[in-house]
Amino acid sequence: MPDAPIRLLTVAGARPNFMKIAPILAECERRGSDCIEATLVHTGQHYDEQMSATFFADLGIPLPDFNLGVGSGSHGRQTAEVLTRIEEILEAAPPDAVLVVGDVNSTLAASLAAVKLEIPVAHVEAGLRSFDRRMPEEINRILTDSISDWLFTTEEAAEANLLREGVAPERIHFVGNVMIDTLRANLERAHQQDTLERLGLEAGGYAVLTLHRPSNVDDAAHLAALFAVLEEIHATLPVVFPVHPRTRASIEAGLGGKLPDLHTTLPLGYLDFLELMSKARVVLTDSGGIQEETTALGVDCLTLRDSTERPITIEQGTNRLVGTDPEALRSAFREIGTHPRETPSVPKGWDGRAAERILDILLHDLKGAR
Ligand code: UD1
Repeated sequence: MPDAPIRLLTVAGARPNFMKIAPILAECERRGSDCIEATLVHTGQHYDEQMSATFFADLGIPLPDFNLGVGSGSHGRQTAEVLTRIEEILEAAPPDAVLVVGDVNSTLAASLAAVKLEIPVAHVEAGLRSFDRRMPEEINRILTDSISDWLFTTEEAAEANLLREGVAPERIHFVGNVMIDTLRANLERAHQQDTLERLGLEAGGYAVLTLHRPSNVDDAAHLAALFAVLEEIHATLPVVFPVHPRTRASIEAGLGGKLPDLHTTLPLGYLDFLELMSKARVVLTDSGGIQEETTALGVDCLTLRDSTERPITIEQGTNRLVGTDPEALRSAFREIGTHPRETPSVPKGWDGRAAERILDILLHDLKGAR
């Protein structure tokens, strides 16, 4: 009798999870349902059309088998809701393994629910460390890694971080970057979008800005100082700013409802945003994933944070850590104007085949354990 398929339960919850889970589900599909049966749980941490549904449509992600509908809330409440609701699903039909991606509250909650039920956990994008424990994501990373059975890493520094924390080397697997699998699979489609035309932009003639980290957007005075410099920049190079809902809420609460004088838009879908980044003169961001995407695209990136958990984007890529001091941003932006656009660099394993390597390892280990 042939072996029963491996049952893998995958979890996604917030915007940056969707582009990471897409290539993994596509690879499961490619291997066939008699080899692996993948299910998808959407925790509902992000629930807006623009923060969630458009990504499923753009990336052809199958509709989730379960939607936990947890929505927004404090960290404690959001994490607890995912933990409680996913536990019921895991108990009703325990899978062979649970796979989580990234570092959001849903990632931590799902892994914790699984290990307590003795279901092994695979963490994709393990080992990244900013060494700043004030970042909620840093806590999620440390805790998720410490309870996961497979730690799939995207860059060499991640392995060194895990070894330093006492993780057994055989649990660590360098596989490359699933987010870049998605970028490579979709770049041509992105180029077919009329994004620039719709926004009235010319290739190379604008900057893209994203801001959503609590450290940047939760303090009205800090945000106002940052916006003052960004408005100055906008006077020389148009700054396109798709506004994250957290940032919009912060602006409305702290700055009397006045959006800054930049080219603001609603959050964009995956293909529009990829097209926008790929043709930008420079990207200004406090996101983690965008530091990697600009490196893969060869587009200059100024990161508005004091630390990065993705050092390879600085060592080999196009990223520069500017910090959150508005003056530092002003001078870094000036320097961008004086050097030519970089050629894209391809860190090891950022080749579009990370999901394939993950599935090879998981299937080998899970079949061997039967
Ligand atoms: C979360 C992740 C962060 C990730 C970011 C990408 C954690 C701790 N943080 O931060 O790592 O980089 O997603 O976006 O998990 N909101 C909406 N609609 C939505 C979702 C959120 O309006 O679909 C609003 C709500 O007012 C909510 C706020 O945004 O309170 C923040 O959402 P939340 O999921 O708590 O964290 P993010 O800041 O999005």
